[in-house]
Amino acid sequence: MERSLILVKPDGVQRGLIGEVIARFERRGLRLVGAKFMQVSLDLAKQHYAEHEGKPFYDGLIAYITSAPVMAMVWEGPNAVAAIRQTVGSTKPVESAPGTIRHDFALEVGRNLIHASDKPETGARETALWFKNDELVDWKRDVDRWVFEK
Ligand code: RTP
Ligand code: MG
Repeated sequence: MERSLILVKPDGVQRGLIGEVIARFERRGLRLVGAKFMQVSLDLAKQHYAEHEGKPFYDGLIAYITSAPVMAMVWEGPNAVAAIRQTVGSTKPVESAPGTIRHDFALEVGRNLIHASDKPETGARETALWFKNDELVDWKRDVDRWVFEK
């Protein structure tokens, strides 16, 4: 089953939007496999955003993600990465579709509330970076057969 790392970023935590984000993914039918509320270390921030090193927004991005606690989660489901990015909305909130999280709650790219893995391989890599194996729960829901076709 495909997995995505989700971070409710420091602005989402400060603004009391953890529950809102979780509710949206639950309602979508995705299955939670891991969650932890944590302060991001500089080392983890740098590893997570390694692809952006050298870009003009990099220093601000590292400062932003380490500025206050985040809610880190792993969610899974069929086509979870695409489904989650659709629910999250475009990177720039003013370009995101109405009804998406970034549209409904954000205005600026540097305060866009949430991170979601951008490809299935990234989902697997980021899950391993943020969570130990024993922090992930392999489980089934009674409702799974009414959400997942197979
Ligand atoms: P994320 O990784 O956080 O889910 O966001 P994303 O895939 O939609 O966007 P990405 O290109 O990976 O950028 C990572 C985060 O860097 C900040 N950013 N700022 N000022 C800028 O032009 C700019 N571009 C990106 C955003 O916080 C973005 O989510
Ligand atoms: Mg990204």
